[in-house]
Amino acid sequence: MKQKIKVLFICLGNICRSPAAEGAFLNLVKQRKMEHLFEIDSCGTSGYHDGDLADPRTRKVAEKRGIRLTHRSRKLNKADLAHFDYLLVMDETNFLDVMSLTSEKKIQEKIFLFGRFRSDAGAPMIPDPYYKNETAFEGVQDLVEDCSLGFLNFLGEDKCLK
Ligand code: 4NP
Repeated sequence: MKQKIKVLFICLGNICRSPAAEGAFLNLVKQRKMEHLFEIDSCGTSGYHDGDLADPRTRKVAEKRGIRLTHRSRKLNKADLAHFDYLLVMDETNFLDVMSLTSEKKIQEKIFLFGRFRSDAGAPMIPDPYYKNETAFEGVQDLVEDCSLGFLNFLGEDKCLK
């Protein structure tokens, strides 16, 4: 059997953006009946919220789109860097933080800004909504759904799914 494509979504706290992205991407691949092809997880560069469910605002906004988030926050570890095929970070700080954990080119090449897969020409970042209002959380949800589509298309074009 073909190896699963292993995808890890990474933000700072693993309670807002990366669990939203994990949920949106899983929802998309389920709709396409492709979930057997993937291993999908999320984590944070910090352990500030270790063991916590996603932020109530993240869960509320996802729930409105029919996505139930049950992930518990965890901190990124060294083994993740080797294990996952794609390390999808939400902003430049996450990018630099993950980059700083390795000097191996093979691992560095697996780190992508998730926002680069958005369909419009906006900045390739998923902005941190933690200190903002619910509208910001809706914006994050819209973006991670859009980027999930773009990423899945990228995997197809990249021949990973062919
Ligand atoms: P996230 O958002 O990185 O998208 O999960 C944050 C969550 C918590 C904190 C910062 C950002 N915090 O400082 O606790």
